[in-house]
Amino acid sequence: MKISVIGAGGRVGSNCVLNIGKIFGKKKNENIKNIIAMIDIPQTLNSMKGMAIDIKDAIMNDVEIFASDDRSDIENSDIIVITAGKPRGPGMTREQLVFENAAIVKDIAKDIGKFSPDSKIIVVSNPMDVMTYIVYKTLYEIYRKKSNEVIGMGGVLDSMRYKKFIAEAFNCSIKEVSGAIVLGQHGEGMVPLKSTVRIKRKKLNKDDEKKLDEVIEKTINAGKTIADFGASAYFAPSVAVAKMVNAIINDTHEILPCSTLASGIYGIDGVFIGLPVRLGKNGVEEIIELKIYDEEKNKIREAGKNLKNMIENLKFLP
Ligand SMILES: NC(=O)c1ccc[n+]([C@@H]2O[C@H](COP(=O)([O-])OP(=O)(O)OC[C@H]3O[C@@H](n4cnc5c(N)ncnc54)[C@H](O)[C@@H]3O)[C@@H](O)[C@H]2O)c1
Repeated sequence: MKISVIGAGGRVGSNCVLNIGKIFGKKKNENIKNIIAMIDIPQTLNSMKGMAIDIKDAIMNDVEIFASDDRSDIENSDIIVITAGKPRGPGMTREQLVFENAAIVKDIAKDIGKFSPDSKIIVVSNPMDVMTYIVYKTLYEIYRKKSNEVIGMGGVLDSMRYKKFIAEAFNCSIKEVSGAIVLGQHGEGMVPLKSTVRIKRKKLNKDDEKKLDEVIEKTINAGKTIADFGASAYFAPSVAVAKMVNAIINDTHEILPCSTLASGIYGIDGVFIGLPVRLGKNGVEEIIELKIYDEEKNKIREAGKNLKNMIENLKFLP
């Protein structure tokens, strides 16, 4: 089995290699050779070679890890993770990265079409829902790529953050919180759900749901809080990517909030947006329609409109 990480010389990419490497050797079939290709631009090649050695020392698994600045080295990948592109700086929104990163991911998608068109693809680069759409659209046009094989990572991370903030606000163990699910856009139009949250398996009463307003605000601003310190998130995002990779390589069929192509759900069509999906070896197996409040559906619909506008604005890209 082979996984390629494009953008692996960066912070999210290199940590993805580490976290994927940790789960990779645990795959049941001992006869399968596990390979991780770290792909980035020539300027990062040397440092990536060093990272590959360091990561191999850390994971202590039977995984071959190699660094390359040649995109043809992604050939025959089972999964490709795209983390290439600019991260946001202090005071920036994810949406402000759109033009620069759109050109980068479009170019990468063309090479995926050339060298490894059948891979499952996990897109991380921001603004993630739009970048996922671009990767899919590019591959669909040249190769009729199936939409369920292109998946965006955002909701898994946002849901981890939401769960942590709920545990803090209700002064309980994080293990007692369930149903902390974030749908919609990975960005300003994020929709952390109130309707699904349970503490010690109990639904919240109206007062407790009110208490979630502040938690939701913190969740929406979680990435910005980190960026405003002059840092950027990469430990948690890479753990979130590894969770999705695990669902695919081990065919777990678990339900995770991922960016996927909506076709009619909540009245949304033709955009990639965060929805609960069942993930397995074929990628997205099913989009799950949860019973949620009408106001939550409206917010998700609104996020869908925002995403459509962003895509419209990109039409002039070559
Ligand atoms: N979806 C999420 O939840 C989430 C979370 C965190 C970060 N991100 C996004 O992930 C991206 C990477 O963040 P980071 O902190 O790792 O940034 P980084 O600057 O540390 O790494 C980006 C890497 O991409 C590489 N790169 C640039 N152009 C490339 C190309 N054409 N081909 C191959 N590699 C290329 C760079 O050389 C660099 O190594 C950003 O867009 C960031 O906003 C998304």
